[in-house]
Amino acid sequence: MNPCKAFRVFQEGGRAQGRFTEMRLEELAPGEVLVKVELSSVNYKDALAGTGAPGLIRRFPCTAGIDLCGTVAESADPEFKPGDGVLATCCGLGESQDGGYAEYCRVPSAWAVPLPAGLSPFEAMALGTAGFTAALALQRLEHEGLRPGQGPVIVTGATGGVGSLSICLLAQAGYRVTALTGKPDQEGWLKGLGASEVLRRDSLDFSRIKPLGQAVWAGAVDSLGAQALSWLASTMLPGGAIASIGLAAGAAFSATVMPFILRGVSILGINALSVEAAPRRALWRRLAGELKPRALDSIAEPIGFAQLPEAFSRMLAGKVRGRSVVRISGPEASR
Ligand SMILES: NC(=O)c1ccc[n+]([C@@H]2O[C@H](COP(=O)([O-])OP(=O)(O)OC[C@H]3O[C@@H](n4cnc5c(N)ncnc54)[C@H](OP(=O)(O)O)[C@@H]3O)[C@@H](O)[C@H]2O)c1
Repeated sequence: MNPCKAFRVFQEGGRAQGRFTEMRLEELAPGEVLVKVELSSVNYKDALAGTGAPGLIRRFPCTAGIDLCGTVAESADPEFKPGDGVLATCCGLGESQDGGYAEYCRVPSAWAVPLPAGLSPFEAMALGTAGFTAALALQRLEHEGLRPGQGPVIVTGATGGVGSLSICLLAQAGYRVTALTGKPDQEGWLKGLGASEVLRRDSLDFSRIKPLGQAVWAGAVDSLGAQALSWLASTMLPGGAIASIGLAAGAAFSATVMPFILRGVSILGINALSVEAAPRRALWRRLAGELKPRALDSIAEPIGFAQLPEAFSRMLAGKVRGRSVVRISGPEASR
């Protein structure tokens, strides 16, 4: 087989660096299922790893890309047959194992998810890790007792991948959703996804967060961390829960215990990486069925493999809206 095109991260001169290269199949990290990759996507973690941020890649060189969708080329596991549609998201792809930014990828069968009926490959990658994480947050919040009618649910980093898909999932499930964004010009788009209200980040004074502020939110999905998370903790309704997903604004946050002991507020940690194979597949089936966002077409746009570096820069500059689906090989993506 000819060498395949890949975007890999190398350690050179003591620092990580990502670039396009060619690799042979024998160089791929091991895994029972060899996938001919058609599509991948761009997540915040991909942008960090692809631009050489330290501490993300655990083995070098490593093909970046935490998401992939394609067809099975070969499989040592009888559950997967050549020609089957398959997807894989996070788990360790693009970090400890070669990921989706290559024409071929070997995936451990426990990480491989049969492409569920009801999802096209494009739709699967429009969701990707971001959609899986948004669904995991909704599932966890509801497991903790959140229901429509208890009060509004706020989504931070609203125009991002996790944020925009969270708005869709929550609104479709009957919640009244407030979108918190740094991009006020996207108010119309956010309302089109299902947000009832759009709050500008620059309208909030994060330097004056009280231990207990006015209680507003029954639930929250937070992609930002830092001061946004401190503010959320102080403004949750009694019994409210925050799904803590990300750190786009920073990892550290400060809070008093007051919201937790006087209002019974909870912060729920969401980790898409650590979900076992059976619940992972079950959640993907829900995403292809009753949870499937109706607005996927307006959230995701296709980009070419060669456009990856530009997509990373835009994401790290906070300029991205929604999701980018990356065409790795094959014919033009059909939605
Ligand atoms: N826990 C998990 O398993 C898991 C899974 C997936 C992602 N994540 C994390 O979740 C976060 C979001 O991921 P994503 O893929 O959705 O990223 P993304 O598409 O880049 O979205 C992040 C959004 O946050 C806002 N933002 C960006 N930089 C900011 C800054 N410096 N200060 C304040 N707001 C900023 C922007 O939205 P607005 O302009 O609308 O405010 C941006 O669109 C990342 O930290 C990622 O690592 C975690």
